[in-house]
Amino acid sequence: MGNAKSMPPGYSFFPSMVRTYKQAKNPIGTMQESMSRFNGTYTVNLGMMRIIATQNPGLIEHVLKSNHRNYQKSELQTEYLGKFLGKGLLTSNGDYWLKQRRLIQPGFHTEKIHALYTTIKNTIDKFLLTVPTGTVDVYPLLHKLAFDIVINTLFTVDVPAAQRQQLATFISDVQDYVMREVRNPHKRWWFRLSGELKENLNKATGARDVIRSLIRQRKQDAHRHNDLLDMLLDARYEETGQPMTEEQVIDEILIILIAGHETTANALSWTLYLLANHTDEQQIARESSASLDLQKVVRNEALNNVISESMRLYPPAWISDRVAIEDDEYGDFLIPKGTVIVIFYYGLHRDNHEWSDALSFRPSRFSKEHAKDFKKVYYPFGSGPRLCIGNNFAMAEMTIFLQSFIEKFYVEPGNVEPNIKPLVTLRPDSVVLKVTKRNF
Ligand code: HEM
Repeated sequence: MGNAKSMPPGYSFFPSMVRTYKQAKNPIGTMQESMSRFNGTYTVNLGMMRIIATQNPGLIEHVLKSNHRNYQKSELQTEYLGKFLGKGLLTSNGDYWLKQRRLIQPGFHTEKIHALYTTIKNTIDKFLLTVPTGTVDVYPLLHKLAFDIVINTLFTVDVPAAQRQQLATFISDVQDYVMREVRNPHKRWWFRLSGELKENLNKATGARDVIRSLIRQRKQDAHRHNDLLDMLLDARYEETGQPMTEEQVIDEILIILIAGHETTANALSWTLYLLANHTDEQQIARESSASLDLQKVVRNEALNNVISESMRLYPPAWISDRVAIEDDEYGDFLIPKGTVIVIFYYGLHRDNHEWSDALSFRPSRFSKEHAKDFKKVYYPFGSGPRLCIGNNFAMAEMTIFLQSFIEKFYVEPGNVEPNIKPLVTLRPDSVVLKVTKRNF
């Protein structure tokens, strides 16, 4: 008895190599093609490395949640990123990750985030005074805004422009470099020899120095700021009652900077793009959120629905991965130890077996009465114990931004369509819109 289980159907060695080459050029299109050919889950065999790519909601739930103990993050996140960012929440695994998660999680609970709303709102209001009207590429503007929000909620005090810029440049250069290393493993020796690796490691040292000086300033400061830095400095390990070391705090700050700004910038840019193309939905969101106080803005259903629907169609974290620690099984599939599981959220969020009228922008599908329909097919913030720790923070800043923006401006389509640039996150190459000031 008992059927012999095997890995999901897919590509043997040579076609896998061809596939990988094609995928580097057009990741989303290539994956979508394979997903429809193999019904949502397929194997890629690269000899030493075997990959199962999936958009199957049951398998995703299995890996992220019900059997999460058997899966950890791959080297891509822990080593490639870790050598520049240190060992923080996003770049660690196992016991160390759990210890850090338990320590930091309480600081991100909704009631703690409330203390940051005013800083978020002030940063947004200042930004709105600088928004140009006419035909505007909003992406770089929103990228900078999202970065300023993270910096201001971390440090409250005015971080000097030169230091701010140094951190921003480091975060963006590191992501570009890591993507190049991942896509060109055969060139790693060259990156080392040409000094490029060293150059980026030096930038990391520079960024750490900036953050260290901000931490030391804070330690001299008698005032409480109730910002994320206070939260990190106040946190105590349950077992020892001790705080983190300075280097650990720096690691976690770098992680918050990298995890917390480009994702949000992408989500906001795609949201404005969608609202520009659906001015009826823009008007509904504007009318139903007019003149609300911040607490109500964050809970406002129309704003939340628009953002949720935007992250369904354009999930900023469009893909993630895990590695099987031991052999595992799911249904008829065998998942041998060491297999990399690539989770294709973008495909799941647009799968017409799971969503009616999957490619249409329909924020009302997220209204309260439908909430349970999409619980297992919608993962903008991931799932299970490694769910995004900043999800409430992100939803708060995005709803506050959206309400403030559409209260002051109208957006309509610009003269160029954005192209998707799927790197670490789902970036648009640009989001050119026609921006007009509203007359009150
Ligand atoms: C729209 C905005 C955001 C999106 C879509 C997003 C998405 C995600 C996703 C999908 C993960 C899990 C990745 C995985 O399972 O492999 C994650 C993890 C994480 N996110 Fe976010 N994120 C956003 C904003 C933020 C913000 C604002 C912060 C911090 C202020 C943040 C901090 C983190 C951290 C620290 C982790 C690692 C958690 C862990 O592994 O324990 N994120 N995020």
